[in-house]
Amino acid sequence: MRRVLVIGAKGMLGKDLVEILRSSSRSDQNSDREVFGWDIDDIDIQEESITVARIESLRPDTVINLAAYTDVDGCESHEEKAFAINAEGMRHVALGALRCRAKVVYLSTDYVFDGKKRGPYLEDDSPHPLSVYGRSKWKGEQYVQDLVEDALIVRTQWLYGKYGKNFVTSILRLAREKKVLSIVNDQVGSPTFTIDLSRAISVLIRRDARGVFHVANSGLCTWYTFGQEILKLSGMEEVKIVPISSEELGRPAPRPSYSVLSTEKLKRETGMTLRPWSEALREYLDGLGEREG
Ligand SMILES: NC(=O)c1ccc[n+]([C@@H]2O[C@H](COP(=O)([O-])OP(=O)(O)OC[C@H]3O[C@@H](n4cnc5c(N)ncnc54)[C@H](OP(=O)(O)O)[C@@H]3O)[C@@H](O)[C@H]2O)c1
Repeated sequence: MRRVLVIGAKGMLGKDLVEILRSSSRSDQNSDREVFGWDIDDIDIQEESITVARIESLRPDTVINLAAYTDVDGCESHEEKAFAINAEGMRHVALGALRCRAKVVYLSTDYVFDGKKRGPYLEDDSPHPLSVYGRSKWKGEQYVQDLVEDALIVRTQWLYGKYGKNFVTSILRLAREKKVLSIVNDQVGSPTFTIDLSRAISVLIRRDARGVFHVANSGLCTWYTFGQEILKLSGMEEVKIVPISSEELGRPAPRPSYSVLSTEKLKRETGMTLRPWSEALREYLDGLGEREG
Protein backbone atom coordinates (compact mmCIF):
# COMPACT_ATOMS: atom_id res chain seq x y z
CA MET A 1 0.00 0.00 0.00
CA ARG A 2 1.42 3.41 -0.98
CA ARG A 3 1.08 6.04 1.73
CA VAL A 4 0.46 9.72 1.05
CA LEU A 5 0.82 12.06 4.01
CA VAL A 6 -0.74 15.54 3.91
CA ILE A 7 0.56 17.94 6.60
CA GLY A 8 -1.68 20.98 7.16
CA ALA A 9 -4.69 18.73 6.44
CA LYS A 10 -7.16 20.82 8.46
CA GLY A 11 -6.46 24.05 6.56
CA MET A 12 -8.50 25.52 3.73
CA LEU A 13 -6.61 23.70 0.98
CA GLY A 14 -5.77 20.67 3.11
CA LYS A 15 -9.36 19.57 3.70
CA ASP A 16 -10.21 19.65 -0.01
CA LEU A 17 -6.94 18.02 -1.02
CA VAL A 18 -7.35 15.10 1.41
CA GLU A 19 -10.93 14.55 0.18
CA ILE A 20 -9.89 14.65 -3.47
CA LEU A 21 -6.89 12.35 -3.01
CA ARG A 22 -9.07 9.87 -1.10
CA SER A 23 -11.89 9.95 -3.63
CA SER A 24 -9.51 9.58 -6.57
CA SER A 25 -7.98 6.52 -4.84
CA ARG A 26 -11.47 5.03 -4.31
CA SER A 27 -12.52 5.59 -7.92
CA ASP A 28 -9.30 4.13 -9.36
CA GLN A 29 -9.55 0.35 -9.03
CA ASN A 30 -5.79 -0.01 -9.56
CA SER A 31 -4.94 2.44 -6.82
CA ASP A 32 -3.24 1.05 -3.73
CA ARG A 33 -2.97 4.46 -2.06
CA GLU A 34 -3.82 5.33 1.52
CA VAL A 35 -4.08 9.03 2.45
CA PHE A 36 -3.13 10.31 5.92
CA GLY A 37 -3.95 13.85 7.07
CA TRP A 38 -2.01 15.47 9.92
CA ASP A 39 -2.28 18.98 11.31
CA ILE A 40 -0.93 20.96 14.26
CA ASP A 41 -2.68 18.63 16.80
CA ASP A 42 -0.71 15.68 15.39
CA ILE A 43 2.63 17.27 14.62
CA ASP A 44 4.22 20.71 15.06
CA ILE A 45 6.62 21.00 12.16
CA GLN A 46 8.66 23.56 14.11
CA GLU A 47 9.93 20.64 16.22
CA GLU A 48 12.71 18.99 14.24
CA SER A 49 13.20 15.70 16.08
CA ILE A 50 9.48 14.99 16.57
CA THR A 51 8.69 15.83 12.96
CA VAL A 52 11.46 13.62 11.59
CA ALA A 53 10.60 10.73 13.92
CA ARG A 54 6.85 10.82 13.27
CA ILE A 55 7.28 10.92 9.50
CA GLU A 56 9.84 8.14 9.67
CA SER A 57 7.49 5.96 11.71
CA LEU A 58 4.66 6.32 9.17
CA ARG A 59 7.00 5.55 6.23
CA PRO A 60 5.03 7.50 3.60
CA ASP A 61 5.87 7.36 -0.11
CA THR A 62 4.79 10.98 -0.60
CA VAL A 63 4.70 13.87 1.88
CA ILE A 64 2.71 16.97 0.93
CA ASN A 65 3.47 19.95 3.15
CA LEU A 66 0.75 22.60 3.25
CA ALA A 67 1.32 23.58 6.89
CA ALA A 68 2.21 27.25 7.04
CA TYR A 69 1.86 30.53 8.88
CA THR A 70 -0.38 32.09 6.23
CA ASP A 71 -1.27 35.41 7.87
CA VAL A 72 0.67 37.58 5.42
CA ASP A 73 0.38 40.75 7.53
CA GLY A 74 0.97 38.86 10.80
CA CYS A 75 4.25 37.54 9.35
CA GLU A 76 5.61 41.12 9.13
CA SER A 77 5.53 41.51 12.92
CA HIS A 78 6.34 37.83 13.66
CA GLU A 79 9.28 37.19 11.37
CA GLU A 80 10.81 34.52 13.58
CA LYS A 81 7.58 32.52 13.66
CA ALA A 82 7.15 32.89 9.87
CA PHE A 83 10.60 31.42 9.20
CA ALA A 84 10.24 28.78 11.95
CA ILE A 85 7.11 27.35 10.29
CA ASN A 86 7.34 28.22 6.60
CA ALA A 87 11.07 27.62 6.12
CA GLU A 88 12.55 25.59 9.02
CA GLY A 89 9.30 23.58 9.29
CA MET A 90 9.67 22.63 5.65
CA ARG A 91 13.30 21.63 6.28
CA HIS A 92 12.21 19.34 9.13
CA VAL A 93 9.54 17.74 6.93
CA ALA A 94 12.12 17.24 4.16
CA LEU A 95 14.53 15.56 6.62
CA GLY A 96 11.77 13.17 7.72
CA ALA A 97 10.85 12.42 4.12
CA LEU A 98 14.51 11.76 3.26
CA ARG A 99 14.63 9.01 5.90
CA CYS A 100 11.89 7.14 3.98
CA ARG A 101 12.99 8.24 0.50
CA ALA A 102 9.59 9.83 0.09
CA LYS A 103 8.64 12.32 -2.58
CA VAL A 104 8.13 15.83 -1.17
CA VAL A 105 5.47 18.27 -2.36
CA TYR A 106 5.60 21.87 -1.08
CA LEU A 107 2.91 24.49 -1.63
CA SER A 108 4.37 27.90 -2.35
CA THR A 109 3.10 31.27 -3.43
CA ASP A 110 3.08 34.04 -6.03
CA TYR A 111 4.36 36.29 -3.23
CA VAL A 112 7.89 34.97 -3.92
CA PHE A 113 7.82 37.46 -6.85
CA ASP A 114 8.05 41.25 -6.65
CA GLY A 115 5.50 41.96 -9.40
CA LYS A 116 7.81 44.12 -11.47
CA LYS A 117 7.78 41.79 -14.50
CA ARG A 118 4.37 42.96 -15.75
CA GLY A 119 3.81 39.67 -17.57
CA PRO A 120 2.89 36.18 -16.34
CA TYR A 121 5.66 34.72 -14.18
CA LEU A 122 7.37 31.56 -15.42
CA GLU A 123 8.62 28.84 -13.09
CA ASP A 124 12.26 29.78 -13.65
CA ASP A 125 11.86 33.54 -13.23
CA SER A 126 13.98 34.73 -10.31
CA PRO A 127 12.05 35.19 -7.07
CA HIS A 128 12.42 38.47 -5.26
CA PRO A 129 9.90 38.50 -2.42
CA LEU A 130 8.71 41.81 -0.97
CA SER A 131 7.27 40.53 2.33
CA VAL A 132 8.39 38.39 5.26
CA TYR A 133 5.79 35.77 4.26
CA GLY A 134 7.17 35.69 0.69
CA ARG A 135 10.78 35.45 1.93
CA SER A 136 9.94 32.64 4.36
CA LYS A 137 8.14 30.63 1.65
CA TRP A 138 11.05 31.20 -0.79
CA LYS A 139 13.45 29.90 1.88
CA GLY A 140 11.15 26.85 2.25
CA GLU A 141 11.39 26.29 -1.51
CA GLN A 142 15.18 26.50 -1.36
CA TYR A 143 15.35 23.89 1.42
CA VAL A 144 13.20 21.52 -0.61
CA GLN A 145 15.31 22.02 -3.75
CA ASP A 146 18.59 21.61 -1.86
CA LEU A 147 17.64 18.59 0.23
CA VAL A 148 15.28 16.46 -1.82
CA GLU A 149 15.88 15.01 -5.24
CA ASP A 150 12.29 13.94 -5.84
CA ALA A 151 10.61 17.25 -5.07
CA LEU A 152 7.59 19.02 -6.50
CA ILE A 153 6.97 22.68 -5.70
CA VAL A 154 3.52 24.01 -6.60
CA ARG A 155 3.20 27.80 -6.59
CA THR A 156 -0.34 29.09 -6.45
CA GLN A 157 -2.23 32.26 -5.52
CA TRP A 158 -5.34 34.05 -4.23
CA LEU A 159 -6.97 30.88 -2.82
CA TYR A 160 -10.55 30.53 -1.70
CA GLY A 161 -12.38 27.37 -0.69
CA LYS A 162 -15.28 26.09 1.33
CA TYR A 163 -13.27 25.36 4.47
CA GLY A 164 -11.58 28.64 5.25
CA LYS A 165 -12.04 32.33 5.77
CA ASN A 166 -11.04 33.95 2.52
CA PHE A 167 -11.57 37.02 0.35
CA VAL A 168 -14.91 35.77 -1.01
CA THR A 169 -16.43 35.08 2.41
CA SER A 170 -15.07 38.43 3.70
CA ILE A 171 -16.67 40.36 0.81
CA LEU A 172 -20.01 38.58 1.31
CA ARG A 173 -19.94 39.34 5.03
CA LEU A 174 -18.99 43.00 4.51
CA ALA A 175 -21.64 43.39 1.78
CA ARG A 176 -24.31 42.33 4.29
CA GLU A 177 -23.05 44.90 6.82
CA LYS A 178 -22.23 47.94 4.64
CA LYS A 179 -23.58 49.79 1.61
CA VAL A 180 -20.13 50.80 0.32
CA LEU A 181 -16.95 48.70 0.21
CA SER A 182 -13.43 49.88 -0.59
CA ILE A 183 -11.32 47.34 -2.45
CA VAL A 184 -7.77 47.47 -3.77
CA ASN A 185 -7.50 47.92 -7.52
CA ASP A 186 -3.74 47.94 -8.09
CA GLN A 187 -2.84 44.28 -7.54
CA VAL A 188 -3.37 41.83 -10.40
CA GLY A 189 -3.59 38.06 -9.99
CA SER A 190 -5.73 34.97 -10.58
CA PRO A 191 -8.22 33.87 -7.92
CA THR A 192 -7.91 30.11 -7.50
CA PHE A 193 -10.48 27.62 -6.19
CA THR A 194 -9.01 25.05 -3.79
CA ILE A 195 -11.00 22.23 -5.47
CA ASP A 196 -9.45 22.98 -8.88
CA LEU A 197 -5.99 23.29 -7.34
CA SER A 198 -6.44 20.01 -5.45
CA ARG A 199 -7.40 18.17 -8.63
CA ALA A 200 -4.32 19.54 -10.37
CA ILE A 201 -2.05 18.52 -7.47
CA SER A 202 -3.57 15.03 -7.58
CA VAL A 203 -2.78 14.76 -11.31
CA LEU A 204 0.77 16.08 -10.84
CA ILE A 205 1.42 13.48 -8.13
CA ARG A 206 -0.06 10.67 -10.21
CA ARG A 207 2.26 11.67 -13.08
CA ASP A 208 5.20 11.84 -10.69
CA ALA A 209 5.93 15.46 -11.72
CA ARG A 210 9.12 17.05 -10.38
CA GLY A 211 10.42 20.59 -10.17
CA VAL A 212 8.39 23.79 -9.94
CA PHE A 213 4.88 24.14 -11.38
CA HIS A 214 2.60 27.17 -11.35
CA VAL A 215 -1.06 26.25 -10.82
CA ALA A 216 -3.92 28.79 -10.84
CA ASN A 217 -7.31 29.25 -12.41
CA SER A 218 -7.04 30.97 -15.79
CA GLY A 219 -7.68 34.64 -16.45
CA LEU A 220 -6.75 37.59 -14.29
CA CYS A 221 -8.31 40.43 -12.35
CA THR A 222 -7.67 42.85 -9.51
CA TRP A 223 -9.14 42.39 -6.02
CA TYR A 224 -11.60 45.13 -7.02
CA THR A 225 -12.83 43.34 -10.16
CA PHE A 226 -12.87 40.05 -8.22
CA GLY A 227 -15.11 41.81 -5.65
CA GLN A 228 -17.40 43.10 -8.40
CA GLU A 229 -17.84 39.57 -9.78
CA ILE A 230 -18.55 38.15 -6.30
CA LEU A 231 -21.33 40.71 -5.76
CA LYS A 232 -22.72 40.24 -9.29
CA LEU A 233 -22.89 36.45 -9.01
CA SER A 234 -24.42 36.75 -5.52
CA GLY A 235 -27.13 39.17 -6.67
CA MET A 236 -25.78 41.97 -4.43
CA GLU A 237 -25.01 44.54 -7.10
CA GLU A 238 -26.72 47.26 -5.09
CA VAL A 239 -23.64 47.32 -2.83
CA LYS A 240 -21.24 49.94 -4.17
CA ILE A 241 -17.51 49.25 -4.46
CA VAL A 242 -14.94 52.02 -4.46
CA PRO A 243 -11.54 51.19 -6.01
CA ILE A 244 -8.63 52.19 -3.78
CA SER A 245 -4.84 51.83 -3.93
CA SER A 246 -2.72 49.48 -1.77
CA GLU A 247 -1.19 52.61 -0.26
CA GLU A 248 -4.62 53.85 0.82
CA LEU A 249 -5.42 50.48 2.39
CA GLY A 250 -2.10 50.58 4.27
CA ARG A 251 -1.65 46.89 5.07
CA PRO A 252 1.61 46.04 6.88
CA ALA A 253 2.91 43.57 4.24
CA PRO A 254 3.80 44.84 0.78
CA ARG A 255 2.23 42.75 -1.99
CA PRO A 256 3.31 42.43 -5.62
CA SER A 257 1.27 44.68 -7.89
CA TYR A 258 1.27 41.99 -10.59
CA SER A 259 1.71 38.32 -9.72
CA VAL A 260 -0.10 36.39 -12.46
CA LEU A 261 1.48 32.94 -12.76
CA SER A 262 2.01 31.47 -16.21
CA THR A 263 0.50 27.97 -16.27
CA GLU A 264 1.91 27.08 -19.71
CA LYS A 265 4.26 24.47 -18.21
CA LEU A 266 1.33 22.70 -16.53
CA LYS A 267 -0.50 22.66 -19.88
CA ARG A 268 2.58 21.50 -21.81
CA GLU A 269 3.45 18.67 -19.43
CA THR A 270 -0.01 17.46 -18.36
CA GLY A 271 -2.46 18.84 -20.94
CA MET A 272 -4.30 20.52 -18.07
CA THR A 273 -5.59 24.11 -17.98
CA LEU A 274 -7.65 25.19 -15.00
CA ARG A 275 -10.99 26.76 -15.93
CA PRO A 276 -11.47 30.55 -15.91
CA TRP A 277 -11.58 31.96 -12.40
CA SER A 278 -15.11 33.38 -12.82
CA GLU A 279 -16.50 29.92 -13.73
CA ALA A 280 -14.88 28.38 -10.66
CA LEU A 281 -16.19 31.25 -8.52
CA ARG A 282 -19.74 30.62 -9.76
CA GLU A 283 -19.54 26.95 -8.72
CA TYR A 284 -18.10 27.92 -5.33
CA LEU A 285 -20.87 30.48 -4.70
CA ASP A 286 -23.56 27.97 -5.79
CA GLY A 287 -22.13 25.55 -3.22
CA LEU A 288 -22.18 28.21 -0.50
CA GLY A 289 -25.84 28.95 -1.31
CA GLU A 290 -26.73 25.27 -1.03
CA ARG A 291 -25.00 24.94 2.33
CA GLU A 292 -26.73 28.05 3.68
CA GLY A 293 -30.14 27.19 2.16
N1 LIG B 1 -4.28 30.97 1.01
C1 LIG B 1 -3.68 31.42 -0.09
O1 LIG B 1 -4.17 32.33 -0.78
C2 LIG B 1 -2.38 30.79 -0.55
C3 LIG B 1 -1.76 31.31 -1.71
C4 LIG B 1 -0.56 30.72 -2.13
C5 LIG B 1 0.00 29.67 -1.43
N2 LIG B 1 -0.61 29.20 -0.31
C6 LIG B 1 0.02 28.10 0.42
O2 LIG B 1 -0.86 26.98 0.38
C7 LIG B 1 -0.76 26.24 1.60
C8 LIG B 1 -2.15 26.04 2.19
O3 LIG B 1 -2.74 27.31 2.42
P1 LIG B 1 -4.11 27.48 3.22
O4 LIG B 1 -4.67 28.80 2.83
O5 LIG B 1 -4.94 26.23 3.09
O6 LIG B 1 -3.55 27.62 4.70
P2 LIG B 1 -4.30 27.44 6.10
O7 LIG B 1 -5.78 27.38 5.90
O8 LIG B 1 -3.73 28.49 6.99
O9 LIG B 1 -3.83 25.98 6.55
C9 LIG B 1 -2.55 25.73 7.07
C10 LIG B 1 -2.70 24.65 8.13
O10 LIG B 1 -1.41 24.40 8.70
C11 LIG B 1 -1.55 24.35 10.10
N3 LIG B 1 -0.30 24.71 10.76
C12 LIG B 1 0.16 25.95 11.07
N4 LIG B 1 1.33 25.87 11.71
C13 LIG B 1 1.63 24.54 11.81
C14 LIG B 1 2.71 23.83 12.39
N5 LIG B 1 3.72 24.46 13.00
N6 LIG B 1 2.71 22.48 12.32
C15 LIG B 1 1.68 21.83 11.73
N7 LIG B 1 0.61 22.45 11.18
C16 LIG B 1 0.60 23.79 11.21
C17 LIG B 1 -2.63 25.38 10.39
O11 LIG B 1 -3.16 25.22 11.69
P3 LIG B 1 -3.74 26.54 12.42
O12 LIG B 1 -4.88 27.01 11.59
O13 LIG B 1 -4.13 26.04 13.77
O14 LIG B 1 -2.61 27.54 12.45
C18 LIG B 1 -3.63 25.06 9.28
O15 LIG B 1 -4.51 24.01 9.64
C19 LIG B 1 0.20 27.02 2.49
O16 LIG B 1 1.46 26.41 2.43
C20 LIG B 1 0.24 28.41 1.89
O17 LIG B 1 1.49 29.04 2.12
C21 LIG B 1 -1.79 29.74 0.15
